[in-house]
This record gives sequence, C-alpha cells and structure tokens, in this order.
Amino acid sequence: MKIAVLLSGSGSNLQAFIDKQHEGVLNAEIVLALSNNPDAYGLKRADAAGIPTWAQDHRRYSCREKFDQAMLAVIKKSEAELIVLAGYMRLLSTPFIKEFEGRIMNIHPSLLPAFPGAKAVAAAADYGVKLSGCTVHFVEEQLDSGPVIIQAAVPVPVAEDPKLTLERIHRLEHRIYPQAVQWLVEGRLKLEGRQVILTESSQPKVFARPDYDLNSQWLVFPPLEQGF
Ligand code: GAR
Repeated sequence: MKIAVLLSGSGSNLQAFIDKQHEGVLNAEIVLALSNNPDAYGLKRADAAGIPTWAQDHRRYSCREKFDQAMLAVIKKSEAELIVLAGYMRLLSTPFIKEFEGRIMNIHPSLLPAFPGAKAVAAAADYGVKLSGCTVHFVEEQLDSGPVIIQAAVPVPVAEDPKLTLERIHRLEHRIYPQAVQWLVEGRLKLEGRQVILTESSQPKVFARPDYDLNSQWLVFPPLEQGF
C-alpha cells in the first residue's frame, strides 16, 4: 500500500514508519512526505530515506482550502492510498477529508477524546491526570477526533516533568502507529459506526510482548503483534 505522510515538525513518527518498513514488518511504501513547514526536520529524515518531499509554507496561500488543494494534487499524482498525519499541526479542510474519507489516520499524544489540540501532554499534567498516553484514530473534521484504532496508556507520576512523560509517550507512539497502519494494510480494520473492529489475521500472530508491562508501566490495547 502506498502512503503519504503529512508532518510539521521533527518527524520521529515518520522515522518509525521508515524503520518498521526496513525491518520488514510494515508492508507499506512511503511515496511522499508533505509539510506546511519547509524547515521541518522530518523533511530531512524523508530525504535521507530517499522519500520524495513536498513542502510549502501554508501562509503563502490565501486560505486553508487552497493549500489543501495543492497538497491533494501532489498526493493524487503519487497514487497514495492512505494519508498518515504524523505531527501535522493543522486542521484539514472538508473537501480534503471527503476525498480521502476513511483513509486518513492521525496520532495524538493523549487518551482521546481528552485533551485534543497542541500541548496535550502538558495540559493533561496540569489537569492532574493519573494516566496519559496516545491514540491512533481515523480522521474526522473536528480537531483530533474520529474513531479510535489503538490506544496506549502510561502513568503520570505527580510532579513529573511533562517532557519525561512525553518521551515515554513517544516511545509508544512509534510502536502503535506503524502497527495501526499494518492492520489497515492487511485489510483488518472494519468501521462499524464509531467502532473500529480489528478482525482476526489469516496468519497466526505471535504476540511480541504482553499488552501491558507493569514494570515499565505501559498498557496498549488492542495488543501489539510481533515486530511492533
Ligand atoms: C507527536 O507526539 C504526535 O502525537 C503529535 O505531534 C507529535 C509529532 O512528533 N500530534 C499532535 O499533537 C496532533 N494533534 P513527530 O514530529 O516527532 O512525529
């Protein structure tokens, strides 16, 4: 399956896709990396991996729709079948979402629907939550919303620096996001209303690790499969 990745920043999630592809557990080809920030470090990661890039400052466009149309044109040329938002910090316009309905995924560093938007980890810490985490979901028009595919939770010790919490969340993001895409590639994600159902694999799957680890303190559901 051909994938286009949209990013605005560091691109560590893009890197996770590249790595899982090289390890042979993600059967997808990243055909394009796009950004609204020409200085995004993620574009350098794409270059280093030989992935074509497209980057334009969105402020050079008169409106969101025009910018999204420009992206749509290059995405269509690339023949990408799935769009993966990996730290893409802009809302997508309605026509863009309609064009790829059910074929856009996003990752967000909170247990959605709590704490959508920027600075989610700090907002959750300020609120005093005891569990934080990350969510991969199909994209709907509202910010960071849509049917949930997989979530990972981590504890938030009182007074922990949110930077440390974010580091732990990132490590899990880099596992659950490629896993979610691989499930889609295998045709195993079925949408029923707001529920995303993970169907059985035709190949028996050996679980890499348990779906929770009390010592390193994380919980993932549905469980990760071998290689993730
Ligand atoms: C990730 O933590 C992702 O969850 C978040 O941006 C970061 C991008 O990191 N996305 C959002 O907040 C979406 N609302 P990366 O550029 O290193 O992949």
